[in-house]
Amino acid sequence: RASGEPISIEDYRRAAGRTVPRMVWSYIEGGADDLRTVAGNRSAFDDWWLVPSVLAGHDTHDLSTRVADLPVSMPVLTAPTGFNGLTRWSGDLDAIRAAERVGTRCVVSTASTWSVEEIADAAGERHGFQLYPGSGGVAAALMRRAWSAGFRSLFVTVDVPAVGNREGEKREGMGVPPVLTPRRLLDVSRHPRWAYDVVKHRRIGGRNLASGDGVTAALASIEVQERHLVQSRLNWDDVAWMRDNWQGTVHLKGVLRPEDAVRAVGLGLDGVVVSNHGGRQLDGCVPTLTALPDVADAVAGRAEVLLDGGIRRGTDVIKALALGADAVLVGRPCLYGMAVAGDRGVEHVLTILRDEIARGLTLLGVRDVHDLDRSHVRAVTPGEN
Ligand code: FNR
Repeated sequence: RASGEPISIEDYRRAAGRTVPRMVWSYIEGGADDLRTVAGNRSAFDDWWLVPSVLAGHDTHDLSTRVADLPVSMPVLTAPTGFNGLTRWSGDLDAIRAAERVGTRCVVSTASTWSVEEIADAAGERHGFQLYPGSGGVAAALMRRAWSAGFRSLFVTVDVPAVGNREGEKREGMGVPPVLTPRRLLDVSRHPRWAYDVVKHRRIGGRNLASGDGVTAALASIEVQERHLVQSRLNWDDVAWMRDNWQGTVHLKGVLRPEDAVRAVGLGLDGVVVSNHGGRQLDGCVPTLTALPDVADAVAGRAEVLLDGGIRRGTDVIKALALGADAVLVGRPCLYGMAVAGDRGVEHVLTILRDEIARGLTLLGVRDVHDLDRSHVRAVTPGEN
């Protein structure tokens, strides 16, 4: 290891924080209100100990599985993150290329910087596409485009009936367009590599919802998103409409209550993602790992149960799988890799997780990710750690 080279997700997090201006960091790293759920998503992993079996006698391990009808080399996909072009102009393509080199899949955001067609052109494999609920109109047009581009797995994000209150962004003047002050301009000038990359390519986001580049396209796309797709009146009928009008798989992303997961199963959906949008929406809502066991029990194998939020180690993935998840998604870790080293950075982040899962399984005495169950975890009792 060359000195200073990142070897963990936390190393990448610190390096990413130095790579982008504070304004952009507030977008990547921030969350709603007092960041209680951001913190809870992480600390929930400390509520569980792993319980290994010894002398298991396995000399190989198998991390591969299928998620949303897509084969993956490990139970980790990249989560949809909008406006990746703020982190790096090539961000969406970096993530796709990295995922393919590692043998896993991305879920591409509606608010991606590159359009679904451009992303599909750059990708050799099929990936998932995220969108917000809606019947007809903008949702239908996006579904048609995603289908023709070759996407077959839809992830419908349902935890944005309104946009969360991200005060960190407001304090830093983050927005489209950004509010620039002399202090903020000085900070941008201290990150010349980032500034050159974004200014030269003028890729920020929104090409699925608006045409063009730069701030104007991003502004137009936010307007479309807020007017048509992020609305508190959207309901289960909209999801039922999407199910009826999409021939591939449909997952509901942003479920925390067992009743909602059961309702999704009743509508014939293929899975749910236990998610709170990385703590960016309702602050104080239950951490995802805490919500997972009840959701998994209620679904009882009738559909896939995925989880995202706070995964930073292979052992976090192992705990989620032991508590009933079929696979997980990672959001910010990919952005850290993207900020530091583009596609190589995302690839390294994914291989770090893969190697940590493999080592963790061996140490736990488990050969196959499908063999993880609740016997491999024990709840921490109060006062124990
Ligand atoms: C997100 N997330 C998100 N989710 C979604 O469905 N559509 C989107 O466009 C975005 N955009 C987005 C931007 C940024 C900067 C972040 C950090 C997150 C939520 C994302 O898919 C996922 O639920 C969380 O990121 C998971 O938590 P971790 O892995 O970041 O802790």
